[in-house]
Amino acid sequence: MKNFCSAFLVASLALTACNNTQQNNSQQESKTDSTKSETMGALDVKKFQQIIDGKPTNLYVLKNKDLQVAITDYGARVVSILVPDKNGKQTDVSVGFDNVDDYTKGGDTYFGAVVGRYGNRIAKGKFKLEGQEYSLATNNAPNHLHGGNKGFSRVVWDAQQPDDSTLILTYISDDGEEGYPGELDAQVTYTLTSNNELKIDYEATTDKATVVNLTNHTYFNLNGEGNGSINNHLMMINADKFTPVDSTLIPTGKLESVASTPFDFRKPTAIGARINDTNSMQLKYGKGYDHNFILNKSASGLTKAAEVVGDQSGIVMDVYTTEPGIQFYGGNFMNGTHKLKSGKTDDHRTAFCLETQHYPDSPNHPNFPSTRLEPGKVYKTTTIYAFSVKK
Ligand code: BGC
Repeated sequence: MKNFCSAFLVASLALTACNNTQQNNSQQESKTDSTKSETMGALDVKKFQQIIDGKPTNLYVLKNKDLQVAITDYGARVVSILVPDKNGKQTDVSVGFDNVDDYTKGGDTYFGAVVGRYGNRIAKGKFKLEGQEYSLATNNAPNHLHGGNKGFSRVVWDAQQPDDSTLILTYISDDGEEGYPGELDAQVTYTLTSNNELKIDYEATTDKATVVNLTNHTYFNLNGEGNGSINNHLMMINADKFTPVDSTLIPTGKLESVASTPFDFRKPTAIGARINDTNSMQLKYGKGYDHNFILNKSASGLTKAAEVVGDQSGIVMDVYTTEPGIQFYGGNFMNGTHKLKSGKTDDHRTAFCLETQHYPDSPNHPNFPSTRLEPGKVYKTTTIYAFSVKK
């Protein structure tokens, strides 16, 4: 058994799993179950090794002295992020499954995924480019969401891990795939820095004019996956304005001030403090928070977008990005139907996403920053999720 495990020593996460199997006889099995939270993140690499659409899938681990991040090439998904909490206890702050099969069945949750070619919605799945109208899947009726039926989150990316802290994932999206024009060569590089940052660099080129908006759809619970509501997490979003939506979550095109609304997160505020504000049509449309915030930017380059603190763990996550917007999605559609790697379920609002992006439906709003990519140009964005602890 030991040798078999060593063949897959991609990660100490995997090692834990292998060693557990090795040590556990039937008499010890119940003990493993009752201590599951301590072994959270003990992923078995073998459960990620499958053939999907004729391509092998795998699990990769990035690690430094404090953090471990597990990523699968299926959908370029972040599977687990282990961070020490205020007491030094390793806490898995991202939501996911312990096997690739469940990701293929995971419905429309997009757990941990890179979404593309266009993150978030395009109204009625239609947009025009150079006088031609393009039609995309309306997979979130009546709109197009997160790149379509498969998008970039249900395909196998090619992976290369040059060292312990870097994973390079590439995917070539054919001309016409999901209805988008142009062959898009996409690259996503995950880097775990020595400063406990998970850095994501996105790059893409095209051979025809197209639209691109790549983001990452990791669901976070800074108290640990499945550890209750996120409503008491303190959140700051560095945005004076947001893009209000219609009842189908398509931006109206207005840029509205957050002042005196439940969307004002300029000072750290509990996520749930105003979530039941019945006067807010916007909260009604989103069934909670599901909105794009316009980041305050004084210069181009990386700027701070958000800061979130887990009320029980003391784990702090700072988000930096080169993008002009961030989608704060409060897990409103989570409904407890999926069993997570911790053994818990994905209950309503037990995780949040902070998806750095261009604004939803930009191809249909000339007043929004453009998402158009031309041949010969390189699409390049960077987002950092930085972890620390507040004692
Ligand atoms: C969207 C939500 C959607 C969710 C799917 C978010 O990015 O804004 O409306 O339900 O993704 O998991």
